Amino acid sequence: MKIAFFSSQPYDITFFNKCNKDFGFDLDYFDMALDEQSVNLVTSEFDVICVFVNDKVDAGVIEVLSERGVKYIALRCAGFNNVDLEVAHKKGIRVCRVPAYSPEAVAEHTLAMLFTLNRKIHKAYNRVREQNYSLNGLLGTNIYKKTVGVIGTGNIGAVFCRMMKALGTEVLAYDLYPNEQLKAEGIRYVDLDTIFSQSDIISLHCPLTPETLHLINDDSIVKMKSGVMLINTSRGKLIDTNAVIQGLREKKIGALGIDVYEQEEKVFFRDLSETILEDERLQLLTSFPNVLVTAHQAFFTDEALTQIAFVTLDNLKQLDATNEIIGRNAEL
Ligand code: NAI
Repeated sequence: MKIAFFSSQPYDITFFNKCNKDFGFDLDYFDMALDEQSVNLVTSEFDVICVFVNDKVDAGVIEVLSERGVKYIALRCAGFNNVDLEVAHKKGIRVCRVPAYSPEAVAEHTLAMLFTLNRKIHKAYNRVREQNYSLNGLLGTNIYKKTVGVIGTGNIGAVFCRMMKALGTEVLAYDLYPNEQLKAEGIRYVDLDTIFSQSDIISLHCPLTPETLHLINDDSIVKMKSGVMLINTSRGKLIDTNAVIQGLREKKIGALGIDVYEQEEKVFFRDLSETILEDERLQLLTSFPNVLVTAHQAFFTDEALTQIAFVTLDNLKQLDATNEIIGRNAEL
């Protein structure tokens, strides 16, 4: 099978080439993102396209893929909000993804953002490098005994809930489908308003859907505790960026950690250090001392990339052989 990879980065090539030694597929890498123009790189010799979070797989793109005889769309990520599943289904193109390659990787990054912001490690790092050993302005709070609100308790949210519980916090959770095991472990499911009004820290782990689009907006921010810490390692559009900027300005939001950003498609996964950033909202956010932005790196661990490569190629092998996916993981 011949696979066209879009948005390929050097690390994708390293991990997929290594893993492919056991599969023997024909892999072709393109560094540009998939969109209505780059879809023309997909000639009729390709059976599969492999895409990541910011590739655009909308109706128009799928139409072209279908004309070229593409059989499978393989997402090498968990989220699938960028694919028009209905149109793919109508065209008879099967779609597969990597549902849970390493929830620990994302939960650990969330924790890293939380601690960095709380103890101002990002500022301390720079200060000490400039021989500034003063502590003024670096005051944090204990996380112990704080209330943490977790929205979405699937694979990643569940791991994060357990981490926070182990730190001695009270964990409140909201999900459309509460997890009975987490309840038994002392995680308390409440409604969204209670999450907003009682949490010192709120972390988002639900997918982007029409219902969760701008879940964090002017109305929800008004309900939050003053000085709340907000962390989003899920999808950028869960947050209305303008509302959050206003919340930061009014000091209602005490700290913001984002690994994902509403307009990230134009910026993330690229080295723009020699250009002038056109995204003024991102520029503004990164100028705030209490905002930490990472560029969609929560998934980025050796274990996760190994798992992503294995599951993606194994999904295709199974689909091609049996038309079904059992969902196996690599042994690490
Ligand atoms: P999952 O599918 O295991 O869990 C999602 C949970 O959200 C489910 O329990 C579901 O019931 C819940 N949910 C769905 N709609 C909801 C709503 N309206 N309100 C509240 N809860 C709702 O997904 P997983 O693996 O935990 O990933 C969560 C999200 O994290 C993904 O959708 C993806 O967007 C993001 N992600 C980000 C990564 C990064 O590198 N920053 C890497 C991997 C995933």
